[in-house]
Amino acid sequence: MSHTPVYYGEYLQLDKIIDAQFPESFKDGQVPAHDEMLFIIIHQAYELWFKQVLFEVGSVLEIMNQPSINDNSSELQTVVHRLHRSVTILRVLVQQIDILETMTPIEFLEFRDMLRPASGFQSWQFKILEAKLGLKFEDRFGKEYYTSQLKQKEIDIIKKAEDGASLLQLVNRWLERMPFFENDKYWEGEIIGNNAAQHPFWLTYQRIYTEGLMEGERNNIDFFNKVFYTEDESRGLSPKACRAALFILLYRGYPMLELPFQLLEVLIEMDNQLGNWRYRHINMVRRMIGSRIGTGGSSGAGYLQGAMDKHNIFREITQLNSFLINTKKLPKLPAVLTKKLGYNL
Ligand code: HEM
Repeated sequence: MSHTPVYYGEYLQLDKIIDAQFPESFKDGQVPAHDEMLFIIIHQAYELWFKQVLFEVGSVLEIMNQPSINDNSSELQTVVHRLHRSVTILRVLVQQIDILETMTPIEFLEFRDMLRPASGFQSWQFKILEAKLGLKFEDRFGKEYYTSQLKQKEIDIIKKAEDGASLLQLVNRWLERMPFFENDKYWEGEIIGNNAAQHPFWLTYQRIYTEGLMEGERNNIDFFNKVFYTEDESRGLSPKACRAALFILLYRGYPMLELPFQLLEVLIEMDNQLGNWRYRHINMVRRMIGSRIGTGGSSGAGYLQGAMDKHNIFREITQLNSFLINTKKLPKLPAVLTKKLGYNL
């Protein structure tokens, strides 16, 4: 089969990428600010990586959006693998701040005023990523103005991402499908209707958990009831999904639960890396502009702090770690269930 030779520069469209830096201060009549080149390139590098992360997350959404994931295929493995890749990219994005911090505040001031109102605030890819992962409009900090600086075309894409099923919603659906509590074939003892709190496993688990609480932690019992038994539309994960997720965290050593455990872990890590990025970004902003407002017109560091505190997309998964118990005290599972969770030889 004949194959037209591919030329490196054309394949990578280097003409476009390498010729896409136009510092404002290099324009006629201005005094060139040396560091503006770095400022542009680092933002471009970020946006390219955002594109790749969106590509990975988009493919994960497609897999997870099927009526059910095929357990006898590599689908779940692919999901976990691509999310791991996304997290690895986010780690690099956190470190890239080191490079930008070689620019001093005085050097930044040489061109900062020329950038208004441009700002990372106008990164629609970042906002789409937040939405696709599961940040809902009503949970956004500064929701009155988070799209105020964007063009209609970009607002439309963000709204579309907000309207589609997010990763958090799809994970919720997937967790709710976990079959191990569905019927009584795995469990001994009476199961009263659909009341999960009366299920033999959860009755035992809650007792062991409660016994292990310190005096100052008694409020956790109310929290336990809220998370695992109380429907609440404002939460991203339903009680049923939370019960499934906790079960996975507790019994992750069983072969059937290894990949599900890795999925929960990688989601927690994604929040962690996004949080690390926000933290480093705020510190850099404080160092660069102190208490001045941002070029994007927000209150600057104040806005960023609010977003950092509120935009933890998978925090309900992280919170489940409050309900773990010592492995030695874990309820022993019925033999029929352990067989199901093992390798089906
Ligand atoms: C000198 C370096 C930087 C400064 C002083 C700075 C400052 C700010 C400020 C003040 C905001 C709040 C919005 C506003 O502008 O009013 C913001 C938001 C943002 N910046 Fe930066 N930034 C810098 C570098 C970067 C870089 C390299 C990126 C990489 C893409 C970035 C991405 C973002 C994003 C995504 C937001 C929106 C965050 C959110 O809505 O939670 N920034 N930045």
